Amino acid sequence: MKSDISNYRKSYLKGFLSENEIFDNPLKLFNKWFDEISDTTLEIEINAMTLSTIDNDGFPRNRVVLLKYFSEEGFIFFTNYNSNKAKSILSNNKVSLSFFWEQMERQIIIKGKAFKTSNDVSENYFNSRPLGSKIGALVSAKQSSVIPSRSFLEDEFEKIKKKFENSQISRPLNWGGFIVKPIEYEFWQGRENRLHDRIRYIKKGGKWITERLSP
Ligand SMILES: Cc1cc2nc3c(=O)[nH]c(=O)nc-3n(C[C@H](O)[C@H](O)[C@H](O)COP(=O)(O)O)c2cc1C
Repeated sequence: MKSDISNYRKSYLKGFLSENEIFDNPLKLFNKWFDEISDTTLEIEINAMTLSTIDNDGFPRNRVVLLKYFSEEGFIFFTNYNSNKAKSILSNNKVSLSFFWEQMERQIIIKGKAFKTSNDVSENYFNSRPLGSKIGALVSAKQSSVIPSRSFLEDEFEKIKKKFENSQISRPLNWGGFIVKPIEYEFWQGRENRLHDRIRYIKKGGKWITERLSP
């Protein structure tokens, strides 16, 4: 089978990113772009981001997770600490996050180090989740391990639902957050004729330095 998709191309005309409109602090620009994409669309999960880690065999691996909080402290997502991604982070905490917001022809790439969030942060978020998601977290206690079938999951779900019919489900200790603390950001705005705008922030001596990159 052979598919030729070389004709899939489009012009990027929706915006620009100039040195005049950026801030000293990249988080402010992230926040501005996040607000702008939030105003543009409700149809996609704008907080979906690609998390890249290095597996124990040295290969990179990407997957999508949901950003739940961001602040000067960092970018927080939640997951299972037994999962493949968590094991990778716990042996090498250098990670990359990326966002692609097609509606605005924008991409943001963040490089940083990931750390487990405090129990309080994980607990508060777990307790705010809908019942089904809490049960799901218990069912997938060993996220990323091989399971026998779909029905295995569904049977477990029903069993756990019944077990906790009259009681609260508390956070399993193997479930919680990671916070990614950025050391580098790249903001990419698609432009005409592939002359895209790319502004990189690098943290040097506690200060953010900006540079423009060739597209
Ligand atoms: C839109 C979207 C959102 C997701 N959000 C999360 C998330 O917040 N946390 C999570 O652990 N997995 C999330 N997943 C599933 C992951 O992509 C992945 O399949 C799972 O975490 C297992 O990854 P691992 O085996 O690399 O650890 C999401 C997937 C998609 C497509």
